[in-house]
Amino acid sequence: MPSITSSAPAKIILFGEHAVVYGRPAIAVPVTQVKAKVSVTANIKGNDVVLQAPAIGLDCPLSEVDPRQPMRVAILAVAASLGVAHIPACTVRITSSIPVASGLGSGAAVSVALIRAFSHFLGRALPDEKVNELAFEVEKIHHGAPSGIDNTVIVYNKPIYFVAGKPILRLKAGRAFTIVIGDTGEASPTIEAVAAVRQGWQKDKDHFEALFDSAGALADAARTAIEAGGVELLGPLMDANHGVLAKMGVSSAALDRLVLAARRAGALGAKLSGGGRGGNMIALASPKNAENIAAALMDTGAAGTIVTTIES
Ligand code: PMV
Repeated sequence: MPSITSSAPAKIILFGEHAVVYGRPAIAVPVTQVKAKVSVTANIKGNDVVLQAPAIGLDCPLSEVDPRQPMRVAILAVAASLGVAHIPACTVRITSSIPVASGLGSGAAVSVALIRAFSHFLGRALPDEKVNELAFEVEKIHHGAPSGIDNTVIVYNKPIYFVAGKPILRLKAGRAFTIVIGDTGEASPTIEAVAAVRQGWQKDKDHFEALFDSAGALADAARTAIEAGGVELLGPLMDANHGVLAKMGVSSAALDRLVLAARRAGALGAKLSGGGRGGNMIALASPKNAENIAAALMDTGAAGTIVTTIES
C-alpha cells in the first residue's frame, strides 16, 4: 500500500519576534535544510488510526493519545474540516530533523506536514489558506497566544513580512544573503518565553510597548533593506534587534556567547531568533565567511549549525 507523504521546512525569524505577538511587523524565512516529514499509510487489516512519533516514544492508537496532544488535535481538525466522521484505519508516522523547542518552528512544521498529508489521505488536499488556518489552531497549544508567523512562513515556504491579522506579504530579496544558524543546545519552549514577556509587559506596559515599537521599526527598516538588496545594512539592524530582545529578557548567557562569537568571527550582525532564553541564534555572513563563522560557533559550544541562503 503506497504511503502519502508530506514534508515541511523549519523557519527562522530574522526580525521582530515577540513584538509580533503585540501587533508589530516581523520578518521570517523558511529553512529547508531541515524538515518535518509525515507519512500516512492505510491499514487494510486494522481498525485504528495509529500515531507513531519515534522521537517522543509515541506508537499507539489515536484514541489513547492525550486529547491535547498537538498531533492528535491536528488529525481530528482535518477530519472535522472535511466532514469525515469515521477516519479509515491507517498509520501516521511523524519524523523530523528540526531541533525541538529551539526557535526553529518544529511544532508548526509537524502540523503543516501532518495537515497536508492527512487531508490528502482523506481524499481532499486542503488549500494553503486552510492548512494555515488549522496549523494556527494547533500552534495555540504550543505557544499559548501565537502571532501565527511560524505556521504562515512554513505553509508558504517563502520569506514573509508578517503583521498578525493582515494579508501575508511575500518578501523578495533584491540580493541573496547568507545566514548561519547556531544552536545553543538549550531547549526553551516558546510558550514559556512568550509568557515571560507577557509578565514583563503587564508589570511595565510603557517600557515594553516602547521595546515592541523599536523591534517593529527595525523590522520595517530591514524590509526596505532586503527588498533593495542592501544586505550590508541588515547586520547593524540585527545587532540592534538582539539588544532590544535582551531588554525584553529573552536572551541568555549561551545566546549572548554565540552572538558575540559570531561577530568576532566576522559576522555582519547577529541576534537570537525565535522565542529565545535558549534555542537558536542567527548571524549574517558573507558567503565566503559562513563556514568560518559556523566553526567559531562550534568552538564556542554550539550544539549544531546550519548555513542557509535567502535567494534573490
Ligand atoms: O517558535 P519560536 O520560538 O520561533 O517563536 C515564535 C516567535 C514568537 O514571536 C516568540 C512567538 C509568536 O507566536 O510569534
